[in-house]
Amino acid sequence: MPAKTILITGGRGLVGRHLAKALEAKGYRVAVLTRSLAPGRREERAGRFFYGWTHEQMPEEAVLEADAVVHLAGANIFDRRWMPARKQLIIDSRVKPSLQLAEILRRRGKKLEAYVSASAVGYYGMITSEEIFTEEHPPADDFTGLTGRLWEEAADEVARLGIRTVKLRTGIALAQDGGALRKMLPAFRLGLGAPIGSGRQYFPWIHIRDLTGMYLLALESEGLEGAYNAAVQSDTTSRLFGAVLAKVLRRPYFMPAIPGSLLHLILGERAQLLLEGSRVSAEKIKKAGFVFDFEELSLGLEDLICM
Ligand SMILES: NC(=O)c1ccc[n+]([C@@H]2O[C@H](COP(=O)([O-])OP(=O)(O)OC[C@H]3O[C@@H](n4cnc5c(N)ncnc54)[C@H](OP(=O)(O)O)[C@@H]3O)[C@@H](O)[C@H]2O)c1
Repeated sequence: MPAKTILITGGRGLVGRHLAKALEAKGYRVAVLTRSLAPGRREERAGRFFYGWTHEQMPEEAVLEADAVVHLAGANIFDRRWMPARKQLIIDSRVKPSLQLAEILRRRGKKLEAYVSASAVGYYGMITSEEIFTEEHPPADDFTGLTGRLWEEAADEVARLGIRTVKLRTGIALAQDGGALRKMLPAFRLGLGAPIGSGRQYFPWIHIRDLTGMYLLALESEGLEGAYNAAVQSDTTSRLFGAVLAKVLRRPYFMPAIPGSLLHLILGERAQLLLEGSRVSAEKIKKAGFVFDFEELSLGLEDLICM
């Protein structure tokens, strides 16, 4: 039987790189949509297929070849100031691909075995609360809540075609080669790691290998459908995260906290991403059969850092 093809939008990003490797190790054929190729171009490199695109135009040929699609593309939420145009791009780059996919599938009468879309715990808002958010909670009415709601509603357009659709409300993915941890490591390695703001905001983390495993489960297990939180359920606060990271690196953790007001000055509204955070429940994904490799922060960090 020919290998099944999984099409990944944004497949050159952090999650996509790890997922593509894991899929290939299981014998899947991986195709990636990337802006690094001009729209309309197609290239094969080491058995992986790359299609040029923009979030405004999904290549039909790539969709028609796919057995399942994973949607990871999206303009980075942290890297640039949240000017109105940037906010719109953050939303559009996540919403439009699902809408176009649904349109192509509808028009061409094409079925997929599964559609898995990233979402984020920001769905519940940039807040610090004692609530442990379950998937039943409504979206918040701040910017990340709005983005999450629109992102998921667009994915639901694919679900409406009778295609099993899973949305993974992702926490902070911990990896050596990208994301939040890579940004934090240089200061922590110098012994200059510091708490952020009050330090009491929760830090809903997930090891990249567990996140990759969740994407695989979502693709392969027919029992999964709808939204799932994709983070370890723990009481880890931002301050505790810093302390454990410093300990794993055998470095001190003595610097005074970075004041929230300073972060607001430097980052504007984005500061809320660092200064706030809540816990999410992992019960639903566990009930669906997912088993975490890393629920203990120190073990997860040791695995990543001592690799
Ligand atoms: N990593 C986390 O901690 C985390 C947490 C919560 C949610 N998520 C979500 O999970 C998804 C994957 O995360 P990630 O960490 O792998 O993100 P990432 O490393 O930033 O990769 C996302 C990819 O999206 C593509 N992209 C960026 N802007 C685009 C645009 N305007 N149009 C089309 N494609 C665009 C880029 O691929 P090309 O440059 O190849 O085009 C980029 O590599 C994202 O949607 C992210 O918001 C991630």
